[in-house]
Amino acid sequence: MRPHVTINAAMSADGKISTYRRIQVRISGNDDFTRVDTMRAHADAVMVGIGTMLADDPSLTVKSGQLWSERKKRCGSEDPARIVVDSMARTPLNAAIFKKGESERIIAVCENAPESRVEALQQQGARIITTGEKQVDLAGLMSELKALGIDTLMVEGGATLNWSLVSLGLADEIYTYIGAIILGGDGAPTLVDGAGFADNTDAAGLELVSMERMDNGVLLRWRVLDMKII
Ligand SMILES: NC(=O)c1ccc[n+]([C@@H]2O[C@H](COP(=O)([O-])OP(=O)(O)OC[C@H]3O[C@@H](n4cnc5c(N)ncnc54)[C@H](OP(=O)(O)O)[C@@H]3O)[C@@H](O)[C@H]2O)c1
Repeated sequence: MRPHVTINAAMSADGKISTYRRIQVRISGNDDFTRVDTMRAHADAVMVGIGTMLADDPSLTVKSGQLWSERKKRCGSEDPARIVVDSMARTPLNAAIFKKGESERIIAVCENAPESRVEALQQQGARIITTGEKQVDLAGLMSELKALGIDTLMVEGGATLNWSLVSLGLADEIYTYIGAIILGGDGAPTLVDGAGFADNTDAAGLELVSMERMDNGVLLRWRVLDMKII
């Protein structure tokens, strides 16, 4: 058993989610920003990889006051739980997730994570989930999250985490906002990086659920198919 997993990302017309400098860049506009905030407000938890945590330092909180108070009435907490996939417990102790919002912070680490770092994160109030020997075991993590009552999980990047989730069959839906911009760059992260599939018989198949013009770009909603494409 695992949560329903939805990946959300904004990418350039050439498929990049950042520049080669791997810093946060604005790809979408205000309407998409509101859509993402709404998705976040309706998720039980939001997840990022440590690469995104170190690059962007996101707080992963709900930004709109209205969504915030509606959520509080609905489920008692203003924000979804914040989860970082961080094998070696490298999440900075002064990260924005510790400074902003009251909801739970969950750091998923592996068995090799330095004990002193794990303890320091616990002292910051983080719940630690340990799965996997050298890297976080995402399937194991998903079962633990489900057991904690997390039924809906929104994943906000980045490229390496997205690859693991898609290639392990742990993603159910993908929202991609495609912005009217070209970023280029061999070293710039794309929606899904990682090792990649060897050919299209192995590739993850998608079904297009909807497409909508938004800001100066387009929002695509994909369902990830259980079967491989042929
Ligand atoms: N445009 C957008 O919507 C958007 C959204 C998010 C991020 N971004 C961009 O994406 C970039 C960051 O992406 P990234 O690929 O460098 O980092 P990432 O996917 O956020 O994090 C990857 C890291 O997670 C850790 N990890 C632990 N267990 C893992 C597992 N089983 N599978 C995969 N990863 C695991 C690994 O580090 P350890 O082994 O050390 O744990 C890995 O290097 C930044 O440039 C950021 O700005 C863009």
